[in-house]
Amino acid sequence: MARRLLSLLLLGPYVVAGSSSSASATVSSSASSTPVTSSAASSSATSSATSSSASSASTSSYSATSYLATETGPLTLPISEYTFSPYPTPSLAPDPPVFPATDPLYPPPVSPDPMVVPDFAPAWAAAYTKAKAMISGWTIEQKVNVSTGVFWEGGVCVGNTPPIEDYPGLCLQDSPLGVRDTDLVTSFPAGITAASTWNRALIRARGVAIGEENRGKGVNVALGPMMNMGRVAQGGRNWEGFGADPYLSGEAAYETILGMQSGGVQATAKHYINNEQEWKRTQYSSNVDDRTEHEIYAQPFMRAVMAGVSSVMCSYNLINDTYACNNNKTLNDLMKREFGFQGYIQSDWSATMATLSAVAGLDMTMPGDITFGSGTSYFGGNLTAFVMNDTISMERLDDMATRIVAAWYYMHQDENYPNVTLNSFNPYDPINSEVNVQSNHYEIVREIGAAGTVLLKNERGVLPLDKPKSIVLVGSDAAPPTSGPNEYTDQGGDPSGILAMGWGSGTDNFTYLISPYEAIQQRARLDQTSVFWNFDDWNLDAAGNDVIGMEVAIVFVNSDSGEGYITVDGNAGDRQNLTAWHQGDELILAVAAQNNNTIVVTNSVGPLILEPWVEHPNVTAIVWANLGGNEAGNAVMDILYGNWNPSGRLPYTIAKSPMDYPAQLVLGGTAADILSINYTEGLYIDYRWFDYMNITPRYEFGFGLSYTTFEYSNLAVTEVYPADYAQTSLIDNWANGGATPIAEGSTTALWLHMPAYQVTFNVKNTGSVYGGEIPQLYLHHDASVGEPPSVLKGFTNVEVAPGQTAPVSITLSRYDLSVWDVVRQGWAKPEGTISFSIGASSRDFRLTGTIPA
Ligand code: BGC
Repeated sequence: MARRLLSLLLLGPYVVAGSSSSASATVSSSASSTPVTSSAASSSATSSATSSSASSASTSSYSATSYLATETGPLTLPISEYTFSPYPTPSLAPDPPVFPATDPLYPPPVSPDPMVVPDFAPAWAAAYTKAKAMISGWTIEQKVNVSTGVFWEGGVCVGNTPPIEDYPGLCLQDSPLGVRDTDLVTSFPAGITAASTWNRALIRARGVAIGEENRGKGVNVALGPMMNMGRVAQGGRNWEGFGADPYLSGEAAYETILGMQSGGVQATAKHYINNEQEWKRTQYSSNVDDRTEHEIYAQPFMRAVMAGVSSVMCSYNLINDTYACNNNKTLNDLMKREFGFQGYIQSDWSATMATLSAVAGLDMTMPGDITFGSGTSYFGGNLTAFVMNDTISMERLDDMATRIVAAWYYMHQDENYPNVTLNSFNPYDPINSEVNVQSNHYEIVREIGAAGTVLLKNERGVLPLDKPKSIVLVGSDAAPPTSGPNEYTDQGGDPSGILAMGWGSGTDNFTYLISPYEAIQQRARLDQTSVFWNFDDWNLDAAGNDVIGMEVAIVFVNSDSGEGYITVDGNAGDRQNLTAWHQGDELILAVAAQNNNTIVVTNSVGPLILEPWVEHPNVTAIVWANLGGNEAGNAVMDILYGNWNPSGRLPYTIAKSPMDYPAQLVLGGTAADILSINYTEGLYIDYRWFDYMNITPRYEFGFGLSYTTFEYSNLAVTEVYPADYAQTSLIDNWANGGATPIAEGSTTALWLHMPAYQVTFNVKNTGSVYGGEIPQLYLHHDASVGEPPSVLKGFTNVEVAPGQTAPVSITLSRYDLSVWDVVRQGWAKPEGTISFSIGASSRDFRLTGTIPA
């Protein structure tokens, strides 16, 4: 039912009826909001030599007079001049055991303290050899076809490339949390929930299961993970990603990709880069300085490359006044040169802005047409014309096709890969239910749902619940949605029940959805507890009356957001405010006024302002349940009853006031404006800003309670010496203050990322129940270095029985200790003493030490 609307959505603004009188959803095509037009070959040249990318390293070797085709349009800015070299596969000799030569299908096992750095270069090299052989006999048109999608709705997947001789073409499919637009799939907890676990093993396991489901449906390329930063608390798509810290996001991206690709599917690191708000996403320039770009926004993408990611998706926005998919600096220089990325860069859907984007580093245009249904393409015939008239070199076209075909070989998709068994555009096509890929993945969903839940408050030890005589559940967020789990296309409407994912392309269709109401009823049967409920958010008097005399009152509230092509209740993707929906604050206060054991459960896409009730003496507990996927109700029940001792930690700061955050949405602008979003806070995003400005948050980054307590002791730090390692001259250079050389793969060089120091300590469980702790390592540099006061550079998870002590180890690489030197354009060890803290959050330090000089 819901998906029947999909094709209508693309025709223009469309209103989906909300179930609540207070809300409505407006949907428009993401592509049609891109007011760009194109003409095919004509004789005038439009390009000029401007690059506003602040530190572009490129120089011109380009003659504007040779153009035979043109791209014009109100938003097509002059494109940069480009140099181009097809980047060779790095040829560092693998050095086992630290650097095992790794096939993406068989990554090293997850470790809470990674000691190996997988080397994918040999696997890429083998794949390149095969790809070059395959394309060697192909015509220009055939090579162009590898790079050009078959247009929107031209195939059954959201993106499709055509078959060419023995190469079957590709099926590209959303989303970061499951297989979109089909049946009999799992709805995994969202990225933000996975990040809240701070647990590498669980994040990897989620990735593996997502990879397996994609492979099972015949998807070649999964369009995730999403790794934009939660720079702005209201950012509509933050929930798809991994929070507001680059290290946490990077590690989550790394484990997710290792997992997904071991499941068989090509992973896509998106949206590259600086796509941190939804408002006017095709019409803003994120203006970011070079150091901030390297240390904050590019870090998760760098880790994606180190995980051997197959594909990267460039984003809709501009970076320093050049469109992301047309950006020589970020595509060629940063991604392909500096990170040594061997796979291919695909555009976000209709984010390609020019045929010459191919020279800036774009390898594939998706879904192929300039705007959905336009019938024109910047690649296709235009790319063929540009190659035939030597505007774009044959060498570059070969490189594009090679990268794409190589990724297919690299992932062994030439070996018995399943057929595509989904149809994104026809929910009634029986092919959608031909293959059931769910397996036992509900178990990992439930576990991550619990492990990704953060206990923020627990007064008088009211949690875990112990066979209460009576419970009352208040709020629609406790309930099943009134018209089934998929009541809106792409989940794009005001939720009438539990919020278990946000809205937009980052969703899938629920096969089933367990609400808290169902899960708690099951448990109540065992405990013989009386259960009452009131799911009406709007009648505050009734809510207050219904909780009188109950042993426990649990209020469920939520806050939703999503992708900007759908507007829900006035929220055009981004959230309009940081307040719980459906007057959640008033509902909590109405309950707390009548019941002195009021427990609040939130399902929120991001931070909320909790001040109206957080200190209310009757609000005894706060359970931050994030977005749990199809087992959301079971997961929150596991936390409430102590089946899972809470170990989740906040992946962002919860502030006391929205204005305490360092960055806000940039709104307004006319239809033709390009907004400037200046990342003036630089390195000081999220907790880094609160620390620097001495602002007290309500709950700090990294915070979360447990049903037990932990004590830290016995800190030691030792240098890790490479046994027999060839790159010692680079290591010595670094130790003496030298920057990493300007070279291909310089930032992902294995020597830079191998363990350099090992920090060890003990964690003792000083409480009475078994539990998991998340020790975190924050570095502190001398003030002259210009780093924020504390920066996360390590974390691990450890589970300890009551009274027991567990040894813990966290390693640091030379990369972890380095800062980006904008003058030397390399990573360098900063001057001065580097000290560090081991803590239970970004503000709860338990041990401190110094990195040996
Ligand atoms: C989104 C991408 C998504 C693509 C295909 C775009 O609008 O930004 O994240 O993968 O559509 O659905």
